[in-house]
Amino acid sequence: MPETKFLKTKPVPLEMHKVRIVQKLTLPSLDERIAINTEAGNNAHLLKNEHVFLDMLTDSGVNAMSDRQLAAMMAADDAYAGSASFYRLEEEVRAAFGMEYFVPAHQGRACEHLLCELLLKPGQIVPMNHHFTTVRAHILKKEGVLEELLFDEGWEAQSECPFKGNIDVDKLRQLIAKKGRESIAFVRMEVGTNLIGGQPVSLENIRAVAEVCREHQLIYLLDASLLADNLYFIKAREDGCQDMSIAEITKQISDCFDIIYFSARKLTCSRGGGMCFRREEHYQAVRELTPLYEGFSTYGGISVREIEAMAVGLSESMDEDMISQGPIFIEEMTRLLTEKGVPMVTPAGGLGVHIDCSKFVPHVPPNQYPAAAVACALYLIGGIRGTERGTLSEDRDENGEEVIAKMELLRLALPRRVFTLSQIHFAVDRIIWLFEHSDLIGGLEFTDEPKILRFFFGKLKPVDDWQERLIEQYRADYGEGL
Ligand SMILES: Cc1ncc(COP(=O)(O)O)c(C=O)c1O
Repeated sequence: MPETKFLKTKPVPLEMHKVRIVQKLTLPSLDERIAINTEAGNNAHLLKNEHVFLDMLTDSGVNAMSDRQLAAMMAADDAYAGSASFYRLEEEVRAAFGMEYFVPAHQGRACEHLLCELLLKPGQIVPMNHHFTTVRAHILKKEGVLEELLFDEGWEAQSECPFKGNIDVDKLRQLIAKKGRESIAFVRMEVGTNLIGGQPVSLENIRAVAEVCREHQLIYLLDASLLADNLYFIKAREDGCQDMSIAEITKQISDCFDIIYFSARKLTCSRGGGMCFRREEHYQAVRELTPLYEGFSTYGGISVREIEAMAVGLSESMDEDMISQGPIFIEEMTRLLTEKGVPMVTPAGGLGVHIDCSKFVPHVPPNQYPAAAVACALYLIGGIRGTERGTLSEDRDENGEEVIAKMELLRLALPRRVFTLSQIHFAVDRIIWLFEHSDLIGGLEFTDEPKILRFFFGKLKPVDDWQERLIEQYRADYGEGL
């Protein structure tokens, strides 16, 4: 990436692309937003996209595609079996990860489903740095046990640690010694660790865990959904990696693993997913399951057009100009907010900015879902949609008790190459105002609570009239509209 200098104006992150296709935004009025939010049960997942001004819910399947991806989609080879598009993707996967075998699946959680079917027996443990919601649901469905072995500093929202997603290798060794190797199904590493703020894992840590897995003949599995951000952070932050190319770092990472899976809705800026295998036995077993759940093994439930987009997207993920776009804009937005005292997860990670809601609204108890309450407030005052990543994203335990999350985060995802710096400044303005009036934000309670992955479809209401009071203040300061 070329070094950029600003001599006459304040430095800002620079887009390394031109925008040629645009989508019109809609701006619902304040009164409309109030009605829409109530109708959606105070749950951002239940909002219609046409009612959202800045959609920062996720980067999943909504990153901007490149001209090369769109062109490749036009040339896709439609075939039930043996599509040329599949073989192009298989070649790109081999080039990036150096693994012989590849099976596509319709998205990341489909890979998790098939891999849990194959590798996990009831009662077995899956040690990992941190869970993601869908993998946890699949592990629990198979009556497996999750063990999160994050370094202690990974749990601290504000720290100086450049790699907060690292596994504590001593904790892993202790677990193996205590429970025995046979009780462990596989070890899962998630790069760009989603639920703790898109925090990266170092190459050194990936290697150290690989050594333990080799020593104990444990299967080592990588969730590479957020690999692109993590690659950028390794190159930017890790000693000894600055002179390596992104392709070299990718190869060194993948050499450590037996199995790699990914959501192509994230990695590759397309839609779909896939699994790479080092061992033929794993590949054969998953390939046998694929027609049952996904489709024939050369399309895996994905349109061939998306398969072409995945192939090009994977090769573009080796370009530092491309993969830097998420992290440098996220860092800028985090900086603008931290400067005004807004409690943020720091250092900034990938995926999006993360507001530490345990400090943003310390008066809202965890069982009234502080991060979800801030998410609602931000939609009301700015038409901005974010995702709660805290207690609401946990499901209740087997006794119906709340599982209090270790972190209460509101994630504002920055889908890559989608938002401009002025839109980021708009969001920053509204967040700072909200922080200055955070005493007006209250809690939420469920009116309709699903048992599994309740954050997707659950409906809630405010515990009192705090939303009316917040809106009154907003009207006094900003007037109507946005
Ligand atoms: C780290 C991680 N793993 C797995 C998944 C699941 O992927 P998908 O949404 O494609 O099912 C996601 C999705 O957000 C993710 O962030």
